[in-house]
This record gives sequence, C-alpha cells and structure tokens, in this order.
Amino acid sequence: DWIMGDYIAEAVAKIKAQVGDEEVILGLSGGVDSSVAAALIHRAIGNQLTCVFVDHGLLRLNEGDLVMEMFAGRLHVNVIRVDATDQFMGHLAGVSDPEAKRKIIGREFVEVFKNEAAKLKAGTGGHKGATFLAQGTIYPDVIESGGAKSKKAVTIKSHHNVGGLPEQLGLKLLEPLRDLFKDEVRELGVALGLPADMVYRHPFPGPGLGVRILGEIKKDFADLLRRADAIFIEELRNTKDEATGKTWYELTSQAFTVFLPVKSVGVMGDGRTYDYVVALRAVVTSDFMTAHWAELPYSLLGRVSNRIINEVRGINRVVYDVSGKPPATIEWE
Ligand code: XMP
Repeated sequence: DWIMGDYIAEAVAKIKAQVGDEEVILGLSGGVDSSVAAALIHRAIGNQLTCVFVDHGLLRLNEGDLVMEMFAGRLHVNVIRVDATDQFMGHLAGVSDPEAKRKIIGREFVEVFKNEAAKLKAGTGGHKGATFLAQGTIYPDVIESGGAKSKKAVTIKSHHNVGGLPEQLGLKLLEPLRDLFKDEVRELGVALGLPADMVYRHPFPGPGLGVRILGEIKKDFADLLRRADAIFIEELRNTKDEATGKTWYELTSQAFTVFLPVKSVGVMGDGRTYDYVVALRAVVTSDFMTAHWAELPYSLLGRVSNRIINEVRGINRVVYDVSGKPPATIEWE
C-alpha cells in the first residue's frame, strides 16, 4: 500500500540529505512534472530552491500569471519569471518549417535558461550560488532515454527535452521524481497542495503554441489563438457528458485549437469579412502513439464555434479535425 504522507516524508528527507545547505535551480514550465518537482523540493528545502520560469510567448492565455500566482503567490516559492517573447519572436521570424521552429524554440529556451542559471550559480544578494539543477524527470523518461535500443530509428518529431544541461552548467543533478509513474506524480502533486485541475491537465508540448500556429509564427496569430483556445478549453471543462457524469475535458486526453494562416470569407451584419480559420482538435488515447478523434457532442462544438467567432475578432470560421493517428499526428506540426 502506497501511503502518500509517508512517501512525502521519505522523499523530503532524501532531498534534504542530498542537498544539505546548498542551493538548487529548477526550470519551471507550468507542466505537471516540473510543477510537482518544484512543490516537493520546496517542501524539503524552502528558499534554497529558486525556480526559473521562461515565457517564450507561446504559452496559453494567462498561463504565465497563473504559474506565478500558484508558485510565488500561494506556495511562496522563489520564482524568477523571464519574459523572452521578443527574443523568441525575433529568432522565429521568417521560419515556417516545423522542425526548424522546434529547434529554434528549444535552442533559445536553453539559451535563456542557461543565462539565468549562470547568474544563480554565481550567487546574488542573500544567495551564495546554486550547485544543483533539479529536473522533473519521471520514470517513463528514464526508460525512454535508457539506451540506443529503445530509441526510435527515425526522429519523427524532435521533442525538445533539455538534455545535457547539468554538464554544460557544471551543476549536480537532482531528480526526485525519477521512480514515479505519471499517475503517482499527479497524486503526489495533489497531496503537496497543488490544485487538481493543474495536476490533471492535458499534456502541452514544449514548443507550445509554436507548433499550433501553422507555418510562420507571428505574435498576432499567437494572441488570436490563445483567446480561441481558452474558449474551447473552458467549454470542455464546463460541459458534462450525461452518460458518465464526467466533463468533456476529462473524457478527452488532449484538446486544443490550431491556428491556420488562411483567410476565408464570412458575413457579419451587412458586411463581408475576410478572416482567419481555426481548427479544433480533441483526441482520446491511452499512449499518444495512436489516437481517435473525440466524438464531441454537436451542441458543444456549435457553442464553441459561435463563441470563438463572436468573441475573437479576426477569426470567422471554425472547423473540427476528424483525423485519427495514424495517419495524422495529434499536433498539426
Ligand atoms: P504527435 O503530434 O506526434 O504528438 O501525435 C504526440 C504527443 O507528443 C506531444 N508533442 C510534443 N511534446 N515537444 C513536446 O514536448 C514537441 O515538440 C512535441 N510534439 C508533439 C503532443 O502534444 C502529443 O501529446
């Protein structure tokens, strides 16, 4: 029997023993793993932990503020928020190839993080300088990177997991979630006081909205997409399926909106509009290797479409993606 309170006490003791009176840096992304790692390490060593939260400008609506509110505000964790939107947008200008976009976002992310980590390593004010880098590595990540055998022969999409950072930074590694499966990480997060809706969130890719804006990324596109996506997610969270009593957010494994840089004609009042199209994507899957498109109720789709078109000026058409994986992927890039 896995008793969470005992587990936390044991994990906290282990972290304390490993870290002693040294200091730790952690890259907070807003995702489940880094969030739970931050909460656990903070429980163990308090303000010997400093988190760095890099905002690449490709996060969801209000995501940066919510992360800060949660960690800095409620849990009193030291968090440095770096708004690197301009830097990312600058490097991404003119780039439309999906893999090239991923590489740039990954590379800039490492750049920004390394910069902040170097400052923390040097020490400032009351801090003597960090010697540990914490990562939210979980057991499936350990297996996945466990050797050539398990590596896919062909990289279908290069996921930008930040490898080799501790060596580059000359920091020791702290990975308190290494033995846990995703479900256990979630339970641990809730037990540490993180809100359930944060801990049970759908996965969000590292490159964020960067792979949900097809082709060249523009800040204006990201702004439109953020608002449309927030409406879709809000309706999924607020609509229950009668048969199961669960929300459509819970009944789907991943759901999001994709921005298509294509204009189509519409009518509004007496006038004609010529505006952008977004696609809604919602899938059901157990492993993300194969997936079915979710059979969302027409009434829900209709409400989302109406709201997006009425509330987000600049978008006049909403379509629903009914492609399975394979042959389509879950993301559009
Ligand atoms: P695809 O689109 O390959 O997605 O069917 C499978 C899962 O992987 C996520 N994904 C990514 N995650 N960096 C990430 O961290 C990426 O570049 C990336 N590309 C896809 C996707 O959201 C889905 O959960």
